[in-house]
Amino acid sequence: MGGRLQGKSAIVLGAGTSAPGMSIGRHLAVLFAREGARVLIADVDPKSLQETRDMIRNDGGICEAEVFDATRLEDQERCVAACQTAFGSVDIVQNVIGRGGPGGPREVSAQQWRDSLELNLTSAFFACKAALPVMEKQGGGVFVHIASVAGIRYPGSPSISYQCAKAGLIALSRGVALEFADRGIRSNCVVPGNVDTPQIVQRLTAMHGADKLETVMKRRGQNSPQGRSATTQDVAYAALFLASDESGHINGTELVVDGGKVAQCAKPYA
Ligand SMILES: NC(=O)c1ccc[n+]([C@@H]2O[C@H](COP(=O)([O-])OP(=O)(O)OC[C@H]3O[C@@H](n4cnc5c(N)ncnc54)[C@H](O)[C@@H]3O)[C@@H](O)[C@H]2O)c1
Repeated sequence: MGGRLQGKSAIVLGAGTSAPGMSIGRHLAVLFAREGARVLIADVDPKSLQETRDMIRNDGGICEAEVFDATRLEDQERCVAACQTAFGSVDIVQNVIGRGGPGGPREVSAQQWRDSLELNLTSAFFACKAALPVMEKQGGGVFVHIASVAGIRYPGSPSISYQCAKAGLIALSRGVALEFADRGIRSNCVVPGNVDTPQIVQRLTAMHGADKLETVMKRRGQNSPQGRSATTQDVAYAALFLASDESGHINGTELVVDGGKVAQCAKPYA
């Protein structure tokens, strides 16, 4: 067990998983606990949330779990209160809530647009709204949000509501960072490109069939100059850095985890 978050209390929002295995939120929660944080994990899915809690406890970590709906302010406030009650403070809010969906402005319905913004952006706004008063009172705190390269670049196929919501998430994070910098509060985003997670495997299997999965996953990885997608570990360690005091002077910015994809203007053609 390391000590990069020793003495910290962290809330990890979205610490379950949509499909069996290691999601980004689960990986993060386990890593944060290994690094010494007391973690309050939250998710809408009770079963996978409990699995994450058991993993952490079996690993010797300190963990409490709250079932919640991230799109409800009162649920976000309950998580903050539960963290305070259990651990005495809220030093880190690690927000992992989000889900992509295909379609451009012609295909996406008004309801799908609203649902996507609620899940990917309003949930983060509520997380900030719930935790900021506590952090202000404490004299500090850290927000880390998991955004997406889709929020800063066209992702290759339309996912308009997700693109806009993740762009908004980056703006939200910057806004909080600047408004609260003088009160010891920091806010940053991790911006992953493609990540191999169970949810992605499930979705691509449903779209292309199990027989094509390997080829599709390989092609997805080749999007990155490194020739592979990110692992959940790649994302978790970037978030750990931003959540820890090691990044004490890093505020209102984004850490891109994509093997160089965003930095690349064009692929060689001759
Ligand atoms: N997988 C990728 O390629 C990729 C790339 C860039 C960014 N991201 C972002 O990373 C995050 C995690 O992705 P993942 O692939 O591990 O997905 P995942 O679906 O496994 O994890 C998301 C978690 O959020 C929970 N959740 C969903 N709606 C909720 C709600 N209303 N209230 C509370 N919890 C809710 C789910 O139950 C799940 O446990 C998302 O924000 C996603 O947008 C993923």
